[in-house]
Amino acid sequence: MTSTVIAGLGTYTPARVLTNHELERMVDTSDEWITSRTGIRERRIAAEGEATSDLSLAAARAALLDAGVDAADLDLILVATATPDMLFPATACLVQHGLSATRAAAFDLSAACSGFIYGLSVADGFIRSGTYRTILLIGAETMSRVVDWEDRTTCVLFGDGAGAVVLKAAEGEPREGAPGVIENRIYSDGSAWDFICLPGGGSRRPPGQELVDRRLQFLRMRGNETFKVAVRNMERAAREVLDAAGLKPESLKVVVPHQANIRILNAVAERLGVSDEQMVINLDAYGNTSAASIPLALRDAVDQERLLPGDVALLLAFGSGLTWGSSLIRWGC
Ligand code: ACO
Repeated sequence: MTSTVIAGLGTYTPARVLTNHELERMVDTSDEWITSRTGIRERRIAAEGEATSDLSLAAARAALLDAGVDAADLDLILVATATPDMLFPATACLVQHGLSATRAAAFDLSAACSGFIYGLSVADGFIRSGTYRTILLIGAETMSRVVDWEDRTTCVLFGDGAGAVVLKAAEGEPREGAPGVIENRIYSDGSAWDFICLPGGGSRRPPGQELVDRRLQFLRMRGNETFKVAVRNMERAAREVLDAAGLKPESLKVVVPHQANIRILNAVAERLGVSDEQMVINLDAYGNTSAASIPLALRDAVDQERLLPGDVALLLAFGSGLTWGSSLIRWGC
């Protein structure tokens, strides 16, 4: 049977580090508030002129090298992002051009912080159905361009970065020990669209002076409401993939969650009965990088040898939409 293996992983984060102490000089906040309420200590910020496709390309090149795959062999490039270079063309097309991936189809996927799980689910479907054999999936964001740097309730939370995986078709059954994607689940609830949104700049509120006057070009979030639903839905999504695979939380080597807030992650871990050793957390260094956060955390888990070939990892995400989802993978590279 055909399954999807992660053949290579690559990440990129901009060099510029923005610390909580620097934020203290920008808005009415404190390192103590940010650390205790979110777990975040610093985040990376893209350089002037550096856009999501630039971050994507750097991560993509690293992933292709890691996989030993030539860009010319890619069938599809999928960029999960809420901060594309422009509304169109797709950032994935800019990456396709940058890589000279001459055979590849390319499109963006908009599921905010759940983008990487959504992308993995879509790519897995293409590979399992036999449509494509080699796919580049990227989660990349320049959140620093869409946060309101005058709004202390949101600007302290987000950061920039990118992570990419090369996905390949393989023969083998991940449920029975072969590397690959075991299960995916993705969900949405558009009734809460305004919990996290960027209201301006699209067809509902096109660009213009009024938009700028009302600061509608920036991200808005109802943090408290989002917090509660995030915990509930991440737990449910985790249980559904585990049940479908006939696995218990204790059989997981690691849980690699979207890095939104340490308190959300602690609450999810407690509800699932997952230990601190199993949880991969790096939001202290990167903040919430939206679609990039799962591959960035995956990179750390692999580098720290907390995820080795044959181990099972649970990927878990929640974000604007609302969207959420989960993937179970058996690590192979
Ligand atoms: N510094 C100091 N004080 C602050 C700051 C700050 N940076 N931000 C808010 N406060 C104040 C508020 O004004 C409020 O003051 P008040 O009591 O005088 O009114 C107080 O702190 C408490 O504010 P809350 O919003 O209740 O703080 P909370 O503990 O809920 O933390 C947070 C806010 C961190 C946003 C939290 O709600 C959260 O993490 N929510 C979930 C975010 C999330 O999961 N997003 C999903 C992904 S994002 C995406 O998809 C793009």
